[in-house]
Amino acid sequence: MKIVETIQEVRTEVKQWRQQGLSVGFVPTMGYLHEGHRSLIDRAVAENDRVVVSVFVNPMQFGPAEDLAAYPRDLEHDAAICKKAGASLIFHPQPEEMYHSDFSSYVDMDTLTGGLCGKTRPTHFRGVCTVVAKLFHIVAPDRAYFGQKDAQQLAVIRHMVSDLNFNLEVVGCPIIREEDGLAKSSRNTYLSEAERKAAVILSQSLRAGEALLDAGEQRADVVCRAITDKINSEPLAKIDYVEAVDWNTLEPVETIDGPVLVAIAVYIGKTRLIDNFIRP
Ligand code: PAF
Repeated sequence: MKIVETIQEVRTEVKQWRQQGLSVGFVPTMGYLHEGHRSLIDRAVAENDRVVVSVFVNPMQFGPAEDLAAYPRDLEHDAAICKKAGASLIFHPQPEEMYHSDFSSYVDMDTLTGGLCGKTRPTHFRGVCTVVAKLFHIVAPDRAYFGQKDAQQLAVIRHMVSDLNFNLEVVGCPIIREEDGLAKSSRNTYLSEAERKAAVILSQSLRAGEALLDAGEQRADVVCRAITDKINSEPLAKIDYVEAVDWNTLEPVETIDGPVLVAIAVYIGKTRLIDNFIRP
């Protein structure tokens, strides 16, 4: 497995694979890889001849008051995970390689990005779409793998791929959880011991919502209220949002009877965590 830092090196590798008729899978990440990322890489390795993993903490998707400088990084650890999983190439560019000094072109989306996480992170999806579009151009994969934990991101990327005619398949992969139910996230490392215990309230509250749906409840406000009440029972938790939205349009729904995303964002102390379930 190679680690390269330049766009040219990625293109040279991928060109050689293409000349041999090999298929290419791509897993974009911001590094500090955990079992959630590992599951994406495993799937990519199973479905493609070669797999590229990008490790790039993308400054453009962080707001001014967000955790860019503090975002955890460990390339050696990431490389070990990628190698063990069978990835072929890590692309680890410096910010200057991705954004030259007079960079001024962006991918903006009018729909899907204003609600949920977009409400408190108004420039986030512009940064995500721009970097992912660039990475898609650089790697030119057959398939790209994204986790359902960032469900809004998955919906946004699918929409961008359709709007801009990227010639690739976006593969959504299930949420990977800790034993107690907490969704795996690089940001879990910010949690103190007490906060880590409290963070289990996210998945527990979603299970409470799902139990209501299983019992036949369809009113979105009733389900969201139950989730909200459960989260509020944890003193260290502060809700950013609890919402039920149409899984295609991400517009709020009143009734949970089609493909619906029930998504939450919750501060545990200073750390903002997200989780969700999709009702088909
Ligand atoms: O999900 C992430 O880690 C990032 O948003 C992504 C897709 C790698 C873009 O920087």
